[in-house]
Amino acid sequence: MNIGFIGVGKMASTIIEGLKRQDHKIIISGSSPARSQEIAEQLNVIAASSHQDLIDQSDLVILGIKPQMFDKVLPDLHFKQALMSMAAGVTLERLASLTNSDLPLIRIMPNLNAQILKSSTAICANDKVSDELFATAKSITDSFGSSFPIAEKDFDTFTALAGSSPAYIYLFIEAMAKAGVKNGLTKAQSLEIVSQTVLASAENLLAGNDSPHDLIDKICSPGGTTIAGLMDLERTGLTHSVSSAIDTTIQKAKEL
Ligand SMILES: NC(=O)c1ccc[n+]([C@@H]2O[C@H](COP(=O)([O-])OP(=O)(O)OC[C@H]3O[C@@H](n4cnc5c(N)ncnc54)[C@H](OP(=O)(O)O)[C@@H]3O)[C@@H](O)[C@H]2O)c1
Repeated sequence: MNIGFIGVGKMASTIIEGLKRQDHKIIISGSSPARSQEIAEQLNVIAASSHQDLIDQSDLVILGIKPQMFDKVLPDLHFKQALMSMAAGVTLERLASLTNSDLPLIRIMPNLNAQILKSSTAICANDKVSDELFATAKSITDSFGSSFPIAEKDFDTFTALAGSSPAYIYLFIEAMAKAGVKNGLTKAQSLEIVSQTVLASAENLLAGNDSPHDLIDKICSPGGTTIAGLMDLERTGLTHSVSSAIDTTIQKAKEL
């Protein structure tokens, strides 16, 4: 398949690295012909001479520009093929109004873990997308991580749970590491210990059939250390605090 990228910054470059593991011809068009050439050489892909030249050569066009550029860039272009957008906050309906409402349109929401080809990516499509095209689009998002087909109405919740949450998880890791330092370990030791433990705990959860509560019960021995710490976390409101942060994130996404 010929896949064209309009706008190749941090996220599109990362996606291209994943896509290179599949058998596609990748064409790009950046903010200027000179930038396109420069990026094409860096990523070892083909530069188009203009956005329209890219559109004319592509079976699928992926938009890697920022949401605020959509109004400026899209209305002048003549699309004839399927489009995929990764822009935060831009709905399929808005994309259709900026392009052509008869086009098959796909919306995705990747996260920063695409950098290590482990993005959690939401994907949805309009009713012009065939099952075959959706499967192709999903194989593209699978190339840089795990894909989650969800309804578009749930994208703001997904953005909180997967897009923003790495920042919250890093805050938790940082807090644990600081506690390690408070109790005599170096920061480097603490960060390594906590990061490996967070990684393995998530892998353990995904590998088996136990729920988080089942695993918590296995770690807490009666009258032991873990139950004492766990009760303290609940006394200071961890569950409420996390849920409140997710609600606030969703609310903010709806306001954008
Ligand atoms: N970064 C993330 O973690 C993340 C997560 C989820 C979704 N997204 C979405 O991914 C999209 C890209 O974000 P990003 O973080 O990759 O931003 P970025 O690094 O700023 O990339 C945007 C790219 O667009 C290029 N550009 C600017 N004007 C252009 C034009 N007229 N024609 C073609 N290209 C143009 C810029 O080129 P110059 O550098 O030459 O100006 C830049 O390379 C956004 O829609 C964002 O919402 C990002």
